[in-house]
Amino acid sequence: MNPAQSKIFTPFTLKNRTLKNRLGVAPMTRMSSVKDSIPRQDVLDFLVRRARNGAAIVYTEAIVTDYESAQGYPGQARLVTQRQIDGWRPVVQAIEQAGALAVMQMFHCGRMSWNEVNPAGRIIAPSPVAPRQTNPLTGVPYPVPDEMSSFDIEHVIKGFAETARGAVAAGFQAIEIHGAHGYLINEFLSSYSNHRSDNYGGSTANRFRFAREVIRAVKKEIPDEVILVFRISNWGVADMEVSLFASAEEWQEMISLLAAEPLDAISVSTYDFRDKAFGTAKNMAQLTREVTELPIMICGKIHDRDSVEEALRHADIALSAKSMLLNPDWVADVRAGKSMPLYTSDQANIAYTSEPLP
Ligand SMILES: Cc1cc2nc3c(=O)[nH]c(=O)nc-3n(C[C@H](O)[C@H](O)[C@H](O)COP(=O)(O)O)c2cc1C
Repeated sequence: MNPAQSKIFTPFTLKNRTLKNRLGVAPMTRMSSVKDSIPRQDVLDFLVRRARNGAAIVYTEAIVTDYESAQGYPGQARLVTQRQIDGWRPVVQAIEQAGALAVMQMFHCGRMSWNEVNPAGRIIAPSPVAPRQTNPLTGVPYPVPDEMSSFDIEHVIKGFAETARGAVAAGFQAIEIHGAHGYLINEFLSSYSNHRSDNYGGSTANRFRFAREVIRAVKKEIPDEVILVFRISNWGVADMEVSLFASAEEWQEMISLLAAEPLDAISVSTYDFRDKAFGTAKNMAQLTREVTELPIMICGKIHDRDSVEEALRHADIALSAKSMLLNPDWVADVRAGKSMPLYTSDQANIAYTSEPLP
């Protein structure tokens, strides 16, 4: 494509914000919070540096929503106490001062956990079914989770609402509900993990009910001007070969249900954005675009200028995880059209060391 026609470095209006370009840092868990569920200073500094180096959007790592069962990995962050709020406030300010939008991503891990991770040691999910594969972090099978009761459902929803309040108190102008990657909300959405026979299981609308309740509870807690995003995917971090939705129609039904909610954007996470989805000739962004006018973010193997261009054909914003993680100059290098590698997951494991990243 002629660079003069490129959308990459053109502004984009996301609700009430003008983003300076179409490039963002995807959410990345760093497992660095050893005390008080606040990330290590160098991990926070990393986010600010990416903002100063030209990213228009900077996501936090997935922040866990309660102390009972939300955490899926050691060293994850929370955002519900004054200390945690005070820890994040200067980071948000610095990201905003650099001209980027700071987005707080929050999640509940659902069945993707093990007994020792959460302070209260409980593992819950829509249904008492564990992923098939073993947990790569422990080397043993994931435990069978407790089926969530209606009390559990309410408790978990309150955790999302409370964390959203924490984000607002810390100054975040944007919040994302993580409904992707086989974690709790995604587990409700997919019949692979949701075998319930009450009104949270069965039909697409029923499987969507929990997500809807989370979205509405969060929306109630945040000022009108705060941007609300929902992340969704057709793949999970365990049992990666499984298509979490049965067909393009089911995916589009889910997106249509989401689009009817008070959301400002949908973030579609893929393994590879170019992959044709559900046996159609279209990729995930295309299928999503067909049923919603909402801004779409896309992620998955976007690593150089050509892939950004291509990704932006059917989406509005391109997010990168591994390239943003490993290359501090990624935005400038995309602008320059530099030849850049596709980093592997093994290379990304540097995210979990205590070595400060450039
Ligand atoms: C180190 C690391 C941590 C991640 N943590 C999260 C996370 O907390 N929340 C999330 O939604 N996705 C997370 N992801 C997934 C990325 O956001 C992204 O969807 C995925 O890596 C594909 O994008 P890429 O090909 O640009 O790396 C993580 C990825 C990496 C490499």
